Amino acid sequence: MTAAALARLRECLGEASVLTDDAAVEPYLHDERRLYHGRTLAVLRPRDAAEVAAAVRICADFQLPMVPQGGNTGYCGGATPDESGREVVISLSRLRQIRAVDPLGFTLTAEAGVTLAELQAAAAGVARLFPLSMGSEGTCQLGGVLSTNAGGLAVLRYGTARELVLGLEVVLPDGRLWEGLTALRKDNTGYDLKQWFLGAEGTLGIITAAVLKLFPSPAAKETAWVGVSDLAAACNLLSRLREALGDNVTSFEYLTAESLALVAGLPGMPAPPLTGAPAFVLLEVSGRADDALREALENTLGSALARDEIGEVVLAASDAQRRAMWRLRESIPPAEKTLGGSIKHDVSVPLSALPALEAEARAGIRQRWPEARLSVYGHIGDGNLHFNVLAPAGALAEDFKARHGAAISALVHGAATALAGSFSAEHGVGKLKRDLLHASESPLSIELMQRLKQALDPVGLMNPGKLVG
Ligand code: MLT
Ligand code: ZN
Repeated sequence: MTAAALARLRECLGEASVLTDDAAVEPYLHDERRLYHGRTLAVLRPRDAAEVAAAVRICADFQLPMVPQGGNTGYCGGATPDESGREVVISLSRLRQIRAVDPLGFTLTAEAGVTLAELQAAAAGVARLFPLSMGSEGTCQLGGVLSTNAGGLAVLRYGTARELVLGLEVVLPDGRLWEGLTALRKDNTGYDLKQWFLGAEGTLGIITAAVLKLFPSPAAKETAWVGVSDLAAACNLLSRLREALGDNVTSFEYLTAESLALVAGLPGMPAPPLTGAPAFVLLEVSGRADDALREALENTLGSALARDEIGEVVLAASDAQRRAMWRLRESIPPAEKTLGGSIKHDVSVPLSALPALEAEARAGIRQRWPEARLSVYGHIGDGNLHFNVLAPAGALAEDFKARHGAAISALVHGAATALAGSFSAEHGVGKLKRDLLHASESPLSIELMQRLKQALDPVGLMNPGKLVG
């Protein structure tokens, strides 16, 4: 039967779009963090939405489970096939068209395989901004970004991926194409169907294209690196900045000296603008040229300094210095990786509870694993902390993670839950956090999710084993 399915797929997509050779399929079989390694019947590489739909129809006919995959940069194993060898990977990376850019309507229509950096460039080409931004933007692809409702560095101002979408085109689990590619900003015609697929991690269908919102390109941008004593001081600074600068506050990132020290170990890193504080804020404000941003920022930071609420401050004096500051921040995850990776946590709590979250989690780790190294940083404006735990210096990272990972994660997630928080702020659920989802959501929430899954994918062929599937 699988031979017949493969023959149909080859006939429909062409030989070259159906990979079965071991070496050719290997890159599709593991996730970015190498937490999982699966097998596959075939990797399909359709060229457009019609081919995706045709491929899904054939898979549905033969009852073959399907795993959609984009840039494969996710952290939760949401795009990796299982070990059965029955699942078919559907790669969206050849859906590369930017179908339309409308500077007047402030929209852009693009296909799932376009990278985030390419979307940003297409918007910049017509003097517009597509504001989603994150460390993986050179490789992550639109389909995955929307399917995981990715966050990143400018959520404070512009929201997560979900908030940047006007319309979607989706291949349903039975192979029908739902053409919801509207560019309307106002459309109250019933349920907002696109929301079912955003953040659904490919369990309800495959996003093949989207209409995205664009924004005016900010003519002015100011970036600062600020020493702070702790997270409470950082939260206080954010509040003062928002009072003074309102929505001009675009990014507000917190990074501890511990994380910065890890980055310093990478070759070719710029020197930090300042060191010596227990933690730092990297903040950016942006707006119109006549917003007098620099002056407003200097005034706010000056008053905070005068009240001893913050430590030293460096304002970026050039675009090169600004980029160097961001490079330091964005290099934290790769720095952790070179040390064998970390036990990652992507927790969020109401903003006012952030200092308590960090204190609780730190105290718990210090008590039971006093030698473990910590890397704590995050998107403070979004109440989102990455509280990552690394093996003690000199210990084997894999061994430490295998022996202590579950207990450490239980502790950190427990601290977030106790503060009315979430165990997955922006990285999704995938395979990795599936059990956590079931353990932490109410039975009614799980039932509603399962009913939706059942309604759209009654046979359970779309990305099984992920989320509630
Ligand atoms: C980040 O903020 O850098 C990522 O979401 C977290 C990570 O890569 O670990
Ligand atoms: Zn993050």
